[in-house]
Amino acid sequence: MQSVQGTYNDKVVRQFAVMTVVWGIVGMAVGVLIAAQLYWPALNFDLPWLSYGRLRPLHTNAVIFAFGGSALFATSLHVVQRTCHVRLISDRLAAFVFWGWQLVILLAAITLPLGLTQGKEYAELEWPVDLLITVVWVAYGALFFGTIVKRRVKHIYVANWFYGAYIIAIALLHIVNNLAIPVGLGKSYSIYSGAVDAMVQWWYGHNAVGFLLTAGFLGMMYYFVPKQAGRPIYSYRLSIVHFWALIAIYMWAGPHHLLYTALPDWAQSLGMVFSLILLAPSWGGAINGVMTLSGVWYKLRTDPILKFLIVAISFYMIATFEGPMMSIKTVNSLSHYTDWTVGHVHAGALGWVAMISIGSIYSLLPRLLGREQMYSIKAIDLHFWMHTLGVVFYIASMWIAGVMQGLMWRATNDDGTLTYSFVEALAATYPYYLIRLFGGLLVLAGMFVMAWNLVRTYRAAPAIAEQPLLPVDASQVRA
Ligand code: HEM
Ligand code: HEM
Repeated sequence: MQSVQGTYNDKVVRQFAVMTVVWGIVGMAVGVLIAAQLYWPALNFDLPWLSYGRLRPLHTNAVIFAFGGSALFATSLHVVQRTCHVRLISDRLAAFVFWGWQLVILLAAITLPLGLTQGKEYAELEWPVDLLITVVWVAYGALFFGTIVKRRVKHIYVANWFYGAYIIAIALLHIVNNLAIPVGLGKSYSIYSGAVDAMVQWWYGHNAVGFLLTAGFLGMMYYFVPKQAGRPIYSYRLSIVHFWALIAIYMWAGPHHLLYTALPDWAQSLGMVFSLILLAPSWGGAINGVMTLSGVWYKLRTDPILKFLIVAISFYMIATFEGPMMSIKTVNSLSHYTDWTVGHVHAGALGWVAMISIGSIYSLLPRLLGREQMYSIKAIDLHFWMHTLGVVFYIASMWIAGVMQGLMWRATNDDGTLTYSFVEALAATYPYYLIRLFGGLLVLAGMFVMAWNLVRTYRAAPAIAEQPLLPVDASQVRA
């Protein structure tokens, strides 16, 4: 064993971990509000900044970039230090990344309700905020890859490959999709137009799903599932195949968001075929995660953190089975524009992204506070059941509503006229919106249980001390 002096930078990890919970509550509260507005439209109180059209992008930006983003920053900066056995290359850069990202979130929370938007889904923020994102992201990349370069071990653990791919891909997507000509501080025009604009936007949109909402969180899976289970990953070889197959295929599947549009037909078919192929690496990777529990399945009975992690992977399998099916043109002709898509999104977002993040934060945080566990294991178990039930209510109601809408919209009478008017389909959807709202409330309440547990864990923690670098086995030391 080779030991060296020094400590890890856990401060930035703790800051991002706490903000994951804070932004999770904020983003999901806005989600609950817009879910309620779809049932009671009067809840916009006739105020422009509370209108559905402005709050919806506020919800998506808050949950994806503030909640999901913070979870990714926290875990990637933790994992890279622990697996490379070095401290981050710079504490000041780490602080810049943390405060820079909080500023981005604050600016988003102000500009979106004001109605300042590029009108591109998941890329709504206007150019000054986009520039700030670029600067912070480059600093994040330098911090992450600089630490990899400085590593004390020969090997680069697979979780870092996934985090690294997500950091590079998001930089590329963000810059290309946001190229625009500013005409004022709060207004710009995209340099693309027509079908090209749509294609670039959904190349971005789909790969934001593939690299931010998937690859980054797979990095989390590859570190926290083995860690929490106390077992090595089921197959290291499979993890390498998984990595290369996933990143090679994701990039081509974007056109499945533009089926039956002005996009050339061959591009639509290409998107469909790549989406179908994507099932294989998605499930291969998921099976690698789940099978890591071989021999220790009994731990699921007593460890609610493992339950969060494993159920997250199950929802990932559901979403990545459903996605390829929805990309088949004939299926998409039914599902597109319906709530089925919203159900699919939240199977991935609430089931996979939120659960793997929550499980990872529960596993990570107490150790950074010098404790073995969170303050209350019972509260984690309660949170697990509230969240799981909430997700089931959410996605099941949207699946039923979505298929029903698709069938009602296309039903025709013998004389060729439509069987149902649009408003009849809307009226039939109302009960399902109420069920979704109930599911969302359960999930949100679970987040408050987490916040309570977090505060108690902090209060019960001994004085927070920096942790020393772990010794490295002589055979693993990098020359
Ligand atoms: C309490 C939890 C949540 C509730 C109640 C909720 C509710 C909603 C609602 C009502 C919509 C609009 C649907 C529509 O326009 O018909 C929506 C959209 C969306 N939400 Fe959530 N949400 C929650 C959590 C999350 C989380 C954690 C994520 C991501 C990590 C997320 C990602 C999205 C995305 C990407 C969309 C846009 C979907 C699309 O365009 O098809 N949501 N959400
Ligand atoms: C093999 C993997 C996947 C495939 C092939 C896939 C495919 C699809 C398809 C066909 C749509 C509907 C497009 C439309 O009709 O407009 C869709 C929408 C969506 N999916 Fe997936 N999906 C996959 C996994 C996931 C995962 C894991 C997540 C989340 C973590 C996710 C998030 C989304 C979002 C946010 C949308 C809505 C986009 C929008 O219109 O705003 N997908 N996906």
